[in-house]
Amino acid sequence: MIFMVKTTVSLIKADVGSIPGHVTVPKPLLSVAEKHMQKACETGLINSYYVFNAGDDLELLMTHSKGENNEDIHKLAWDTFMACADKAKSLKLYGAGQDLLADAFSGNVKGMGPGVAEIEFNERGSDPLIVFAADKTEPSAFNYLMYKIFADPSNTSGLVIDPRMLCGFTFDVLDAKASKSVMLKAPEELYSLLALIGTTEQYMIKKVYRSDDMEPAASLSTTKLAYIAGKYVGKDDPVCLVRAQSGLPSVGEITSTFLHPYLVAGWMRGSHWGPFLPVGLKNSKCTLFDGPPRLICLGVQIANGKLVSDDDGKPIVIDIFDDPAFDLARREAMELASHLRRHGVFQPARLSAGAMEYTTLPQCLVDLESRFKKE
Ligand code: 13P
Ligand code: 13P
Ligand code: MG
Ligand code: MG
Repeated sequence: MIFMVKTTVSLIKADVGSIPGHVTVPKPLLSVAEKHMQKACETGLINSYYVFNAGDDLELLMTHSKGENNEDIHKLAWDTFMACADKAKSLKLYGAGQDLLADAFSGNVKGMGPGVAEIEFNERGSDPLIVFAADKTEPSAFNYLMYKIFADPSNTSGLVIDPRMLCGFTFDVLDAKASKSVMLKAPEELYSLLALIGTTEQYMIKKVYRSDDMEPAASLSTTKLAYIAGKYVGKDDPVCLVRAQSGLPSVGEITSTFLHPYLVAGWMRGSHWGPFLPVGLKNSKCTLFDGPPRLICLGVQIANGKLVSDDDGKPIVIDIFDDPAFDLARREAMELASHLRRHGVFQPARLSAGAMEYTTLPQCLVDLESRFKKE
């Protein structure tokens, strides 16, 4: 049987409270989320789900047939987060309700605090999907990863040796400061693309499509909490969905960027650079200097609108970074972490002055203003 209805995968996340401080999401919150998701499955709103955490961020992975930006799906996520935040408040967890910036749901969780990555597609014969979720960093942390997967043939051999990928990929890039976006093609416009996405303070990738048929290949969250709240309220810890194989980069090409770590912004108080540390779910907790920024990578397959499950109906989720293949990256990341921490609050360990405008630093400088004398 061919499944004709389009399938949507929605990954919606929020920090609704954590323990201790900003380290991780405790079990009682995951259980509240599980209950809400299970109920939504029973009523037929969603087809399947998986609840997990990336550090202190609660992640709801859902499959359904309602398309992207669907009000019912977003309301389900919002109501789930609200219930979890209530539980967090009752336990006096840290930052209870941190990312829920509105009092009431208004049709779409975008702009209300939670991060969203959604991708709608016609299922192929087999549909592998890679799910990335990060803590203590920002959406543009994925710019380098997207470039490596979809535009760098030294990472993705398929760009050269799979005829279905010779057309290259089209990147939808958001200018988060000006709230406008532009589509750029790689390899044709690679240098212009890199000129934008290398400036991670301002530009972030929203979507990636295969160029010849605009087949959706990746979707990323782009929430900037500071721009919504007008001040630092926590980091915009991002999520990303990447489809794999059969004319798209293979699972191994998607993960091979993490042979080595790279630096991302957002460590400690959202104010420092740190190495992106790839970890399995058992290490999904930001311990050292509230970090280092951590990245979870899960592998699933989608079939007939659902996450492929075992005989008990439990989704089969492969914890990709729970593997010695990433030990080298972890060791290199900790060497970088050690080097950066020796700089304390000095740049380049600390973010640039422009990025610090969105943190609590300006408040510390107010009293100094009147003491400055003209030179
Ligand atoms: P597909 O072309 O079927 O995606 O397989 C490529 C491959 O073998 C990846 O290692
Ligand atoms: P989160 O955004 O993950 O809550 O982190 C906040 C912070 O400043 C940790 O140092
Ligand atoms: Mg937090
Ligand atoms: Mg977080």
